[in-house]
Amino acid sequence: MNWTEKYRPKSLKDVIGNRAAKEELLKWAREWQQGKPSKKAAILYGKPGVGKTSSAYALANDFKWEVIELNASDERNREIIRKIALTGAIHEVLSIDGKFISSKEGARKLIILDEADNLYEKAGDFGGKRAIIETIKATKQPIILIANDYYELIKGSGAGLRGLCKSIEFKKVSSREIAALLKKICQMEGIVADPEVINEIARRCDGDVRSAINDLQSIAYGKRITRDMLSHLGYRDREREIFTGLRNILRAKEMRAAIREAWRIDESPDNLILWIDENLPMEYKYPDDLARAYEFLSRADVFLGRVWRRQYYGLWGYASELMTGGIAVAKKHEYRGFTAYHFPKWLRSMAASKQYRQIRLSIAKKIGKVMHCSSRKALEMLPMFKKLFADADTAARLAARFDLTEEELFFIVGDKAKEIYAEAEKLKKMEKQAVLFNFK
Ligand SMILES: Nc1ncnc2c1ncn2[C@@H]1O[C@H](COP(=O)(O)OP(=O)(O)OP(=O)(O)O)[C@@H](O)[C@H]1O
Ligand SMILES: [Mg+2]
Repeated sequence: MNWTEKYRPKSLKDVIGNRAAKEELLKWAREWQQGKPSKKAAILYGKPGVGKTSSAYALANDFKWEVIELNASDERNREIIRKIALTGAIHEVLSIDGKFISSKEGARKLIILDEADNLYEKAGDFGGKRAIIETIKATKQPIILIANDYYELIKGSGAGLRGLCKSIEFKKVSSREIAALLKKICQMEGIVADPEVINEIARRCDGDVRSAINDLQSIAYGKRITRDMLSHLGYRDREREIFTGLRNILRAKEMRAAIREAWRIDESPDNLILWIDENLPMEYKYPDDLARAYEFLSRADVFLGRVWRRQYYGLWGYASELMTGGIAVAKKHEYRGFTAYHFPKWLRSMAASKQYRQIRLSIAKKIGKVMHCSSRKALEMLPMFKKLFADADTAARLAARFDLTEEELFFIVGDKAKEIYAEAEKLKKMEKQAVLFNFK
């Protein structure tokens, strides 16, 4: 399970940092409770992962308010927003078990509009922001708008929001407070962690509690977190963005969504395929899903090869759609929970993709020679070969047989290349290949 979900604060008391913001939020909620709010809506705004959404839910929980959450980026919500405001919200509150609770008793429905800065607005249309403004004016129930970008929200037709809402800024959380939370999580998970590692995670996340917790989980494989694990934390913003994109691609339920996500992360297809190749087996646990997905991946790979050979970039689109949309629909099972993704091993040290292509091609040629097939066919088989190389013994024997260089091996097995190469050289010297490789 994802620790950010597991440790999502249940009460405002559990939300760390942002003391002033929490005070203001509480004050606003108490006003509502007493039936005379100075402002009917509140805007919570600030950087990602600092507790905006969590605070809104925690508040509702503390006040025993029912929550209605609407995602603002969806066009259809506009109608829903208005309906709830003008019917549900104005009338008495209907509790979950169907009983009417008088709002005079203080029972409320909290309407949460998350990602309000992503409001869908068409030119000349009755804009989403105006619908919200009307809603706020009419509502008899508390409304919270949540946004990363305050100015995006209050600009243009949103100008009226400024006067109607209580604006509450959520700031970055201090690394001291984040470190304390991480320590608590370690305790609850029964993990012994080097305090220095905890402090380093807290420092690197730059006030973003969510990514600190994710970082912690990503290195907490066993029950100990030691100093040398810090190297696993090498990733920076870009990597994190790709990880998120990757997760969205692999878990997408429809083709379009996966393809759109690939556009969003804007990574070139020949890099993206490596990310997918590296991480597909971490996500897809059922062999049949994996097999179908690799089928798509190898086809995408063929297209990429043609792009390169013919210098025809028109084919990139196909490659990209196969490796994202294709893979998304290849799965018949749903995967949930937390998966720690990896940075493609070879990409770390060989960023230049032209070099990568050459190496790949030379490997394919060598495999093709031994297997008596074209290098194109061999290229298609490469992802499967990577699986064979997972076993060090087999890897050494194959490396000897295919006569791979250390660089080529690095491409396939990453850090283990040196070791395997040495072993393969030994085997070659012993001139035992003929005996060892009795392919029948
Ligand atoms: N202040 C906090 N105190 C405790 N946990 C937090 C805090 N902020 C974030 N978290 C953790 O990070 C997760 C995500 O936080 P949340 O959804 O509240 O962030 P957000 O500010 O709404 O971010 P975004 O702008 O990306 O929506 C939570 O489930 C919780 O585990
Ligand atoms: Mg949020």
